[in-house]
Amino acid sequence: MKFFIDTANLDQIKEAQALGVLDGVTTNPSLMAKEGISGDENVIQHYLDICAIVDGPVSAEVISTDYEGMIAEGERLAALHENIVVKIPMIKDGVKALRYFSDKGIKTNCTLVFSAGQALLAAKAGATYVSPFIGRLDDISFDGLQLIEQIRLIYDNYGFDTQILSASVRHTMHVISCAEVGSDVMTGPLSAIVGLLNHPLTDIGLEKFLADHAKVNS
Ligand code: E4P
Repeated sequence: MKFFIDTANLDQIKEAQALGVLDGVTTNPSLMAKEGISGDENVIQHYLDICAIVDGPVSAEVISTDYEGMIAEGERLAALHENIVVKIPMIKDGVKALRYFSDKGIKTNCTLVFSAGQALLAAKAGATYVSPFIGRLDDISFDGLQLIEQIRLIYDNYGFDTQILSASVRHTMHVISCAEVGSDVMTGPLSAIVGLLNHPLTDIGLEKFLADHAKVNS
């Protein structure tokens, strides 16, 4: 399973990259705003800065909600760097835009997906990635993981190439569960990636090894 980090924070992207397990980055307008990135030129520069850190797919989301606007924005974003993936919302004009970009060989990430039907449509439209938001489903008492399993089954039934990018991952158990049900990619915060490291028996065991070594080597 590929690991993407879901942030626009350059320090966190660098930290995940330095760990050697990072495959890509996802951003969204809220994450860009959180970093105080505003204005066309600054937004563009920020995507370029991210692409300079990570050699993998970087999702950049369009703000337009009409077909023509999404095409114009998406083409501009895609031209920035070969690793940019145009992130398109799951709305009617978005589905048309997915088909347009797919036919042009431009990679896409269909975002704000909350049902199997939406995921089926995204795959039919040729999306490179589909992003079901599991954390936001869990937030309202729907089982996010169950949706990933459902989409996995549907995509496997028909051999769709669209990759399942489990999004809105909030913690380490989400990461593990996504891997168990066969998600192609997960995107989550740095804490969910680094948190996988932790086990008290590892810390206790290392302390003992070092203490035993020190006993006979001092
Ligand atoms: C997906 O690409 C989104 O950026 C993201 O995963 C949303 O996560 P959130 O529900 O924690 O905001």
